[in-house]
Amino acid sequence: TWTMASYLEDVQGLLRTQVGDDPLLLLISGGVDSTVVAALLLKTFPPEQVHLLYIDTGLMRKNETEEVEANLRTLGASNLYIVHAEERFLSALKGVVDPEKKRQIIGDVFIQVQEEELRRRRIPDQAFLAQGTLYTDLIESGKGVGNKAKVIKSHHNVRSPLIERKRKEGRVIEPLSMLYKDEVRRLGAHLGVPREVLERHPFPGPGLAVRILGEVTREKCDILREADAIFIDELKRRHLYHEIWQAFCVLLPVRTVGVTGDDRNYGYVVALRAVTSKDGMTADAYPFPTADLLEIAALITNRVKDVGRVVYDVSSKPPATIEWE
Ligand code: XMP
Repeated sequence: TWTMASYLEDVQGLLRTQVGDDPLLLLISGGVDSTVVAALLLKTFPPEQVHLLYIDTGLMRKNETEEVEANLRTLGASNLYIVHAEERFLSALKGVVDPEKKRQIIGDVFIQVQEEELRRRRIPDQAFLAQGTLYTDLIESGKGVGNKAKVIKSHHNVRSPLIERKRKEGRVIEPLSMLYKDEVRRLGAHLGVPREVLERHPFPGPGLAVRILGEVTREKCDILREADAIFIDELKRRHLYHEIWQAFCVLLPVRTVGVTGDDRNYGYVVALRAVTSKDGMTADAYPFPTADLLEIAALITNRVKDVGRVVYDVSSKPPATIEWE
């Protein structure tokens, strides 16, 4: 019978044969797939052989970079390169309001920073590139049977020159490519990846940039990070997080009037989005009990000074999408 332990042994054997003593490089997003690959490599090879590169775009959630780093250290990472590139991304995004333009800029800067870091860190040329590709990713990209979401919104993680180079050299390894998502989670659990990471909601590559409608600024990122952290913490505290496929806050580019004491002031509007879904292709708004919504909205407006109003997005996909941009 097929068990995780025997699968792990087989994969480790294959990896050791293919890679030998050559260095390994893995790009870390902090998501389930790249974290499980990291755990697998660190369990299979001496830690010094495994080079992990993570780029903080400044568009991450609250404490995200610190948590990613801590998790990887716990899994035994030693050659872990955390690149703080907030300035680069934010200045490239200055004045940009078009969502597809934002995605394109983030993708381009990502690749520039990645190429610079590879040179700077002196990752040897013969390094193997490990990728967290799943079985379903192969089917979708290979046959064009269509993840329509990917056609509607461009994804930036597909045309990296690093990946193209390594493919040509035959130095790409994809140890999860036989697995479905739930099997990846089981493998991750077997390898000691924290449950928090394995059951995290999906997060888009362009991060908060597509959740700040209109121009992205550091100030708006900070406001959104605070509101989003409150929303997610409350979902966890109320045991709703795992009932929901994806949840987040969106910062709207309007200010509306409000009162504090005798003063009028103009605060931002935050939209809460929480959906149930199987695969992100279709989705429905999560039917919150009213009390939860009212309490969460009050916490956000009380604690985040610049937010004056909270609304709940009740749209399904289709015709809406899950993200607002
Ligand atoms: P939509 O908004 O198209 O989202 O209904 C479906 C799923 O895809 C994620 N998404 C993205 N992921 N880069 C990504 O890596 C992107 O540009 C992007 N846009 C949307 C979204 O968070 C949801 O899980």
